[in-house]
Amino acid sequence: MTVFVLGSINLDAVARVDDLPRPGETVAGLSLDLFLGGKGANQAVAAARMGAPTRLMGAVGRDDSGPSLKAKLAGYGVQVADVAELANVPTGQAHVWVSKSGENMIVVTGGANTALTAQHVGATPLEGQRVLLSQLETPVSAIEALFRAGAAKGGLRILNAAPALPQGAALFPLTDILIVNQTELATYAKLDHEPSKLEEVSRVARKLMSRPDQTIIVTLGSAGVATVRRDEAFLIEGRKVKALDTTGAGDCFCGALAANLAANMDLREAVEMANAAAALSVQKSGAAPSMPSRREVEAFLEG
Ligand code: RIB
Repeated sequence: MTVFVLGSINLDAVARVDDLPRPGETVAGLSLDLFLGGKGANQAVAAARMGAPTRLMGAVGRDDSGPSLKAKLAGYGVQVADVAELANVPTGQAHVWVSKSGENMIVVTGGANTALTAQHVGATPLEGQRVLLSQLETPVSAIEALFRAGAAKGGLRILNAAPALPQGAALFPLTDILIVNQTELATYAKLDHEPSKLEEVSRVARKLMSRPDQTIIVTLGSAGVATVRRDEAFLIEGRKVKALDTTGAGDCFCGALAANLAANMDLREAVEMANAAAALSVQKSGAAPSMPSRREVEAFLEG
């Protein structure tokens, strides 16, 4: 069954540094690489690598990088017929700095991603799409149109509400599974600290629930993943690995989870497998290029 992703496509310019700069500081870069990225593209690649037939709806510019990013997506097995090439608008770009401990800082200029509209979504047939997955790097109005149309056709709606945007909360009532990290959870819940223990994470997540049948998943970095429903909550512990680059780890989790749920996997098993996929992704450089295949994830879980 198919995963349909609506989301951003970026050219990631990744500079490695020893330590991330502080405001006003200049630091020497150790290397500079250009990768396929963008939360939508990364999640679509992760879903396709997990074996789900995956369609991506998005937009790139008709410039030097747009068509080649589209070709790279197709090379990963993502169906790109719904990726528009727009004239007179640049492809989205992300400037990513990665420290020697694998932490990152990212600045995104949205470009063509911000030109997607509800009309683009309305013109796209959604029959047979089991899972609809989106994030907040494309306009909220387009995501709303997708979730409204998709629900009418029985699709499971997953929103990765990242980056945290106040207007993104308007989508929560239309969402079946909401995925946030602990920073985003604190932002949406207007907390002055980031909850980390399952008990507090569950309490805060339940306050964000807009329907009793909703699931909220909170990724907790190396501490693992909390899954919260109205009547139950469970923690899948993080896997101990040495992180080279954490860029796109959350995207890997979302894409792998969507693929597993599209294949009718039980929620707990799907979360466990997506958690393992994310642990593998941080051991490679780049966002989209670090997404593991289903076989790699299965071998990791068995080992
Ligand atoms: O989540 C990681 C992604 O965020 C990067 O690939 C970058 O493009 C930004 O969109």
